[in-house]
Amino acid sequence: MNHQESRYGEVYRAWLRDPAAWWAEAASGIAWHKSWDRVFDASIGPYGVWFPGAELNICENCLDRHVAAGRGAQPALIWDSPLTGRIERFTYAELTARAARVAGALKALGVGRGDRVVIYMPMVPEAAITMLACARIGAIHSVVFGGFAAAELAARIADAKPLVIVAASCGLEPGRVVAYQPILDAALALSPHQPEACLILQREMAPATLTPGRDHDFLTAEAAAQPAAPVPVRATDPLYILYTSGTTGRPKGVVRDHGGYAVALNLSMGMIYGLGAGDVFWTASDVGWVVGHSYIVYAPLLAGCTTVMYEGKPVGTPDAGAFGRVIASHGVKVLFTAPTALRAIKQQDPEAKLLTAHDLSRFEALFLAGERCDPPTAEWAAARLARPVIDHWWQTETGWPITAGFRGLGLFPFKPGSGGRPAPGYDLQALDDAGAVLARGVSGNLAIRLPLPPGAAPTLWHNDAGFRTAYLSDFPGWYRTGDAGMIDDDGDVWVMGRTDDIINTAGHRLSTGAIEEVLASHPDVAECAVIGARDALKGQVPLGLAVLKAGVDRAPADIRAELVQLVRERIGPVASFKTALVVPRLPKTRSGKILRAAIRRLADGEAANPPPTIEDPTALDDIATALDGASR
Ligand code: COA
Ligand code: AMP
Repeated sequence: MNHQESRYGEVYRAWLRDPAAWWAEAASGIAWHKSWDRVFDASIGPYGVWFPGAELNICENCLDRHVAAGRGAQPALIWDSPLTGRIERFTYAELTARAARVAGALKALGVGRGDRVVIYMPMVPEAAITMLACARIGAIHSVVFGGFAAAELAARIADAKPLVIVAASCGLEPGRVVAYQPILDAALALSPHQPEACLILQREMAPATLTPGRDHDFLTAEAAAQPAAPVPVRATDPLYILYTSGTTGRPKGVVRDHGGYAVALNLSMGMIYGLGAGDVFWTASDVGWVVGHSYIVYAPLLAGCTTVMYEGKPVGTPDAGAFGRVIASHGVKVLFTAPTALRAIKQQDPEAKLLTAHDLSRFEALFLAGERCDPPTAEWAAARLARPVIDHWWQTETGWPITAGFRGLGLFPFKPGSGGRPAPGYDLQALDDAGAVLARGVSGNLAIRLPLPPGAAPTLWHNDAGFRTAYLSDFPGWYRTGDAGMIDDDGDVWVMGRTDDIINTAGHRLSTGAIEEVLASHPDVAECAVIGARDALKGQVPLGLAVLKAGVDRAPADIRAELVQLVRERIGPVASFKTALVVPRLPKTRSGKILRAAIRRLADGEAANPPPTIEDPTALDDIATALDGASR
């Protein structure tokens, strides 16, 4: 089907004509306990809420509903773990039973509606089961990614104030077991808030020593529990808090509600991914990220698909053919991953021989997100796989794609490097710095006209004011995405990079400001700057520059190693912070602003092009020398 024949334009215009009627129609895909008073109420929260007055349970919609409809024997979740050599399948009936029991175990620990549960687990089925179990009883989960250090976990515990923490004893990385217990203990030692109890899933690679009175064995508690029935909750109640990098060291607690999220995700499965009940969908991400929340757990289950949960990597588990093996073994129809995974495969297997040695006959399309896909990688994948490669752009805050190709509507706007067209629900425009809408083809600040659609964050956890300041105050009436880009004459959107100090490393969102705070805490550092430098595999990696305090005469190499270690200890290995340079001074404007863009250009091997306001251009020469030394 070509663009002219696609239904995209018609569907997008129908939404634009009457958003309330359009979303009410979309909401018919969800089972409600009580209907809404109004589809949208602009008077509540920072910009409004969707489906106020309605009641539902998202876990019931993900699980019980399909069992009741006769899908109980269909696989709901396939866990494929090359890191343990195990594959396990759970039918809808089995997953429902486990979620109900884990919900019962949480209830037995006193967890009820509105209580928070922090989940600190790797890619094991129990992570998804615990998320669903929380939703079942109206508790609010907050999943923390395993690659973060204790201080990051502590910050999330301190802010979410969980009644219970559910953790695994360890995670697995190729060649290394990551024991979670020491990280959890260190986090609890740092956190002013303490949970009432911890449920620990023991994994045999590194069992934890349980603390009597605080820790309980997950599987024992599950086995002993009474299954809990799903409770109706308000559509506007929080389902989860997911912390993400902001521009400071303090992560932002993005809140997701039950009703709008269920409606938008369910809709997206058909409209964007072109999938329906019984199809196998694999999102190769992690439950610690929004992509994992939405497209490993909630969306595929809402739609009655089979979701694949993969505890492995694109390469090294055991080789660059791993993705092909998983696609073939489970009959994956659509795969969603990050471009960095493709670059990793391409680096090791340029002809994609290992990948395509498997039976890919049931595979139909590849979706990419997490970072901009560079055109050569998109073209490589499309040529090797002979399938549509569809980039789509979104954020933790939006919960589902802002722009995409729409398989379900017959639209594959595949221009390598473009993120596709806006999804119905999003009136996206490029704005100039004063907030005026720019003409097609002109780059600016990508912004969404309020309200945000169902599924997007209604607010930040206990912080409406922070939501307004972070997203709504720069351009009144608009949500600022923080991304720069343009919309071309065809309506395709080009997302070119952040307008703030957030960078993307291997599809992971990092704040350079947070890394700067860590470097600045080193006793020998007077001032510092962190930029995202181009990286062939990870897209960008953070690079630190530090100016030492007067009188410090220790070997710069020692200080550099300490800075790298400090970031690993405070933020975690996921920061991929490997390079810190010691320089005599930082390039600044005459008003004292550090010229990070000029440093970034230098690090990327380009001309620095400093602005005329630079105070002392020779500061850039010192950085060029330091970069030269580091690359040798
Ligand atoms: N728990 C503990 N440590 C973790 C971790 C986790 N869940 N995830 C990553 N790490 C560690 C890695 O082991 C690595 O540690 P090291 O510095 O000791 O080597 C470090 O964090 C950096 O990890 P990563 O950036 O992922 O790099 P990598 O070299 O291990 O792997 C890729 C590179 C491309 C294979 C990998 O990044 C990948 O699979 N990316 C897919 C991206 C993705 O899923 N993004 C999600 C958003 S859609
Ligand atoms: P996260 O909140 O971790 O999902 O990161 C969101 C950010 O990742 C976005 O604001 C973008 O900067 C970037 N991003 C995600 N997907 C894409 C994409 N398809 N194209 C360009 N940038 C993307």
